Amino acid sequence: MTITIKDQAGITAMRTACRLAAQVLDAIAPHVKPGITTLEIDRLCAEAMARQGTRSATIGYQPQGYPPYPGHVCTSVNHVICHGIPSDKKLKKGDIVNVDVTVVTPEGWYGDTSRMFEIGECSIAARRLCALTYEAMWLGIEQTRPGAHLGDIGYAIQQFIEGHGLSVVREFCGHGIGRNFHEDPQVLHYGKPGTGVELEPGMIFTIEPMVNAGRRDIKSLADGWTIVTRDHSLSAQWEHTIAVTPTGYEVLSISPSMPSVPTFVKGFRPPMLAPA
Ligand code: MF3
Ligand code: CO
Ligand code: CO
Repeated sequence: MTITIKDQAGITAMRTACRLAAQVLDAIAPHVKPGITTLEIDRLCAEAMARQGTRSATIGYQPQGYPPYPGHVCTSVNHVICHGIPSDKKLKKGDIVNVDVTVVTPEGWYGDTSRMFEIGECSIAARRLCALTYEAMWLGIEQTRPGAHLGDIGYAIQQFIEGHGLSVVREFCGHGIGRNFHEDPQVLHYGKPGTGVELEPGMIFTIEPMVNAGRRDIKSLADGWTIVTRDHSLSAQWEHTIAVTPTGYEVLSISPSMPSVPTFVKGFRPPMLAPA
């Protein structure tokens, strides 16, 4: 296992890549409403990337044992946990959808971020699931600092989620990212404090908890990509790309219209105050 430590130029390049990924989500947000199809969302994302001069990291992506991924983004609706393939099915009031954007800059750096969108008015259970998953991601982010361990992040997320009667998906995790889409280390969303890799300044990885309203068990669909909850319960996910800094962390996947940061978050540096 080799974790790449990014130098100042690498961190600067990743700031750009991740901000661009977040800005794709900003661009589509006003359009993610009842009646839009996930294929139309995919098209809007592709157009936003073209305007930026980035390209999709997901289209044609083919890890060992998988067919090439067919979308510019992932669109995971309701009981789909992750890797949902854009389709011509219309979103309807009460649906929840995760849109997961990974871009590559012309210089070859990857930026990865995802958000939940509530389609029209959603049930209290769906809103609670999305909100608690968002909080869980930030609780994990808040653990990030030199000397902390990856297990601290996983533990914070798991304790919070299970304490609310929800479950954490185990089969997929966050990941190192940089000049590659998926690098070491694996960032599990469950674990024990003080275990796993010790964090160092210059590490960059995603935190992207997948949380089910019911049981944690998953099922893969025959398309080779789509992952759903085995019990058909709702699932939510949020994702940020994070850099470990000398004093804590920097969230790289920030943008003007990103959802507001929870009030318990102490380590987030507003963009204007971020170190130059
Ligand atoms: N963006 C996802 C992640 O957060 C990976 C999607 S791979 C795809 O790691 F091929 F399904 F798009
Ligand atoms: Co990711
Ligand atoms: Co992603």
